[in-house]
Amino acid sequence: MSDIAILEVNGIKYEFPVIVGAENEVSIDIKTLRSVTGGVTTLDPGFKNTSSCESAITFLDGEKGILRYRGYSIEELADKSDFLEVIYLLIFGELPTKEEKSKFHKDIQSKSLVDEDVKKILDGFPKTAHPMGVLSALTSALTAFNPKSVDVKSEQDMYNAICKILGKFPVLVAWAYRKEEGLPLAYGDNSLGYVENFIKMMFELPNEKFVMNPVVLDALDKLLILHADHEQNCSTSTVRVVGSSHAGLFASISAGISALWGPLHGGANQAVIEMLEDIKADGGDYQKYIEKAKDKNDPFRLMGFGHRVYKNFDPRANIIKVAAEEVLNDLGIDDPVLDIARGLAQVALSDEYFKSRNLYPNVDFYSGIIYRALGIPVPMFTAMFALGRLPGWIAQWKEMRSRNEPISRPRQIYIGETLRPFVEESKR
Ligand code: ACO
Repeated sequence: MSDIAILEVNGIKYEFPVIVGAENEVSIDIKTLRSVTGGVTTLDPGFKNTSSCESAITFLDGEKGILRYRGYSIEELADKSDFLEVIYLLIFGELPTKEEKSKFHKDIQSKSLVDEDVKKILDGFPKTAHPMGVLSALTSALTAFNPKSVDVKSEQDMYNAICKILGKFPVLVAWAYRKEEGLPLAYGDNSLGYVENFIKMMFELPNEKFVMNPVVLDALDKLLILHADHEQNCSTSTVRVVGSSHAGLFASISAGISALWGPLHGGANQAVIEMLEDIKADGGDYQKYIEKAKDKNDPFRLMGFGHRVYKNFDPRANIIKVAAEEVLNDLGIDDPVLDIARGLAQVALSDEYFKSRNLYPNVDFYSGIIYRALGIPVPMFTAMFALGRLPGWIAQWKEMRSRNEPISRPRQIYIGETLRPFVEESKR
């Protein structure tokens, strides 16, 4: 492979270095394109062909269905690790020793209290507010209560900001849920594990002793691991873009939450269950919905199908499909929606339209089924995804800041009016 790419514009040839990543991904380094050509840019809406950064965190190969965090396969991590360990791995690059993990957990716990005044902000939201809007607002508001976390000048400042958001964010997710349910707000229990504590904060009732269900704990831990990072997806790119202006960690994460909210991204897990419910209410005829999805005159899309990067299979979907079956079996839940999901997947996977476009069930096709079995209301699904993605956002933000990356500022091709004289109001 040549290490030079040649581009010819208006008869002049320019040379650009070709760089190769650790897994042999090839990229043309066009950092000097504008300066050497006198203003030529590249046009790539949706960044389908653009690598926005060099990153050592997550590798994924969409064609082969590979996902690795810091070199470890998602299958092994989901099987052998736990969420707290994966958080550490993503952010600091290595699996922690027992001592490192215990210190990290204690540091997070020591920063997990949320200022009582944040409850007043939460009070201002209607009960019907979408949890993602609430979470984004409260995460941004945390900046006001923790001003030091904005201006990170040292490794220690950065570490403290990271521990703060890891400690406080699960509290905010639980509060967003409990507000919607009309339950008193809890602060958690530092004698418990990270995910265990979160589950207790979510589901503990004021008049009952809380008993942890190990099946629920295991399934949720696995789900959080599967969602923990996915390289430069829409919300992660948002976190890096916002963070590149040196806005603080909490403001950057808040922007990431807003990006994740959309139904083409994290909001898909909510959209999947709503779609499956609609199909059930419509008599369960999923073939009709397959035809709708294929009809170019119908805007309907099969939610939970297709992925910008995975064009073979989504390795997370394979793991989660098995976990969903296990949870439903263990909890003794017979969910007709799962039958519809199974049927829909089977038909779509053998249909030429889906096969020729490489459309496969993605992670969100099955995650909602687990959340539902755990008793989590549908609007909270994407908030659960946000909790899982939090370490990825943090790791990517830290990497971006540590490398002193320049502020993100793409160019455009202007296609509007050229210069024209102002028209007085009376003549318009
Ligand atoms: N149902 C029906 N047709 C689809 C679907 C779908 N879910 N997804 C893509 N297609 C079709 C498109 O109509 C297009 O067909 P055409 O070539 O005949 O015009 C072709 O497949 C390619 O689609 P694009 O939209 O160009 O693919 P892109 O990579 O831009 O989009 C996306 C990926 C947004 C995920 C898309 O597949 C989609 O909308 N899926 C449903 C929403 C969803 O599940 N999102 C979750 C993604 S995973 C995550 O964020 C964790």
